[in-house]
Amino acid sequence: MFYNGDHISLAFSLLILPGVIISTNTAGSWNVSSPSRLCALTGSSVTIFCTYRYPQEHTVTDVSWYSNKDKRLTESELFKNRGQFLGDKKNNCSLRINGLRESDSKEKYKFWFRTNSSEFSGAGVTLSVTALRVMMSPKTVTEGRSVTLTCSTTCSLGNSTTYIWYKNGLPVSTTHTPDNTFSINKVRVTDEGRYSCAVTGHDDHPSDFVTLSVRYAPRNTTALLSLYMNEGTSVAVICSKDAPALLSLSIKEHTSVTLTCSSDAKPSVRHYSWYKKIGAKSSLMVFGQNYSITDAKVADSGQYYCKAENIVGATESSTLPLNVYKVTAGLRSAVLVPAIIVVAIAVSFVCWWRRTAERAFGVHSQGPDATSLWHMHS
Ligand SMILES: *[C@@H]1O[C@H](CO)[C@@H](O)[C@H](O)[C@H]1NC(C)=O
Ligand SMILES: *[C@@H]1O[C@H](CO)[C@@H](O)[C@H](O)[C@H]1NC(C)=O
Ligand SMILES: *[C@@H]1O[C@H](CO)[C@@H](O)[C@H](O)[C@H]1NC(C)=O
Ligand SMILES: *[C@@H]1O[C@H](CO)[C@@H](O)[C@H](O)[C@H]1NC(C)=O
Ligand SMILES: *[C@@H]1O[C@H](CO)[C@@H](O)[C@H](O)[C@H]1NC(C)=O
Ligand SMILES: *[C@@H]1O[C@H](CO)[C@@H](O)[C@H](O)[C@H]1NC(C)=O
Repeated sequence: MFYNGDHISLAFSLLILPGVIISTNTAGSWNVSSPSRLCALTGSSVTIFCTYRYPQEHTVTDVSWYSNKDKRLTESELFKNRGQFLGDKKNNCSLRINGLRESDSKEKYKFWFRTNSSEFSGAGVTLSVTALRVMMSPKTVTEGRSVTLTCSTTCSLGNSTTYIWYKNGLPVSTTHTPDNTFSINKVRVTDEGRYSCAVTGHDDHPSDFVTLSVRYAPRNTTALLSLYMNEGTSVAVICSKDAPALLSLSIKEHTSVTLTCSSDAKPSVRHYSWYKKIGAKSSLMVFGQNYSITDAKVADSGQYYCKAENIVGATESSTLPLNVYKVTAGLRSAVLVPAIIVVAIAVSFVCWWRRTAERAFGVHSQGPDATSLWHMHS
């Protein structure tokens, strides 16, 4: 005789009193009771709580858990050292499986027992083993937008499950939330990091990391002017940040200057372009990071600025005022050129000093005022 029992979720119906066993259900009392479904995390352990019944006059001679593949689970290669029978040959058929693997979820596990005259098997437990996975939506994150991370499982771990989130291995907050999502409304660059989640009580089995990387439009777009006096020798670098303080940057005719655009962007700048502004009119001079004027003419005078563009957006630098003057009197140029060099070096130092200070301290420092210096020579 071989019965195939339905699972029951009701409590075990034997009352155990000291020394007396009273069966409340004598007829049709062959039964194995265990949950029909279980969801557990990879790497963790699961206990399948299970009880079984049979007519009182029988004596249990053999018990076993089995699956289609493995006749005796606790003795099989796959479950050796992992499967542990916690029950007995009376009424308890609980089974514990340690070190769960996702491959353990393929099977239905059933409890079987034999008495001195019959045998019986339960309906079985469907075990689902899931890893935690962090899903990021959207997949690419832009500064100022929102992002939602979801700690997902392939089966439901139950209503009482709570989650915790980690950023670079450290808990994001001390609270454990029943919600499996983590949202940032306005993403900032400081939110970048490696995120993972875990289920409360299984902190030792967190999900894999998901890297949050924040894209942003070009910023700190700066126009730099390098002035050459002799063959290829740069004597000054002037940045556009200081330009509002400059009434005009005067250079002698036939001088060579190179305008270089720099910017901080993620992903990096795709296009640079140079513009010249005369009055309200802007005209494109060149595409590219550098714009060289090798033999400056009076007509090259104007306000120069650059534009940096990436997939997120574009920004412009402030303008660099350039004035190209004609050399008329021998005396004037003899005085002016060295004066320009001195001033250019001074401004260059101011520019360098500001950049260094900003980089080192993250503050915008004012520095000495370049206006007065340039005034003298413009
Ligand atoms: C097992 O017991 C429950 C009640 O405890 C019952 O509903 C169910 O039909 C039983 N299953 C079998 C196969 O007898
Ligand atoms: C099973 O064995 C017990 C003794 O252990 C005996 O009392 C009982 O009659 C046997 N049952 C059957 C159905 O043979
Ligand atoms: C069955 O055994 C397990 C492990 O010893 C125990 O935790 C569980 O409470 C037992 N179940 C019953 C119904 O006694
Ligand atoms: C889980 O929660 C939902 C609503 O929050 C409720 O409707 C459902 O009955 C709960 N399920 C269990 C198994 O507690
Ligand atoms: C870049 O610009 C930001 C503000 O947009 C500023 O906080 C930061 O200090 C600047 N960095 C550099 C290197 O200039
Ligand atoms: C622009 O000029 C700078 C310095 O003069 C140089 O390092 C850089 O490679 C140039 N960039 C391009 C795209 O030519």
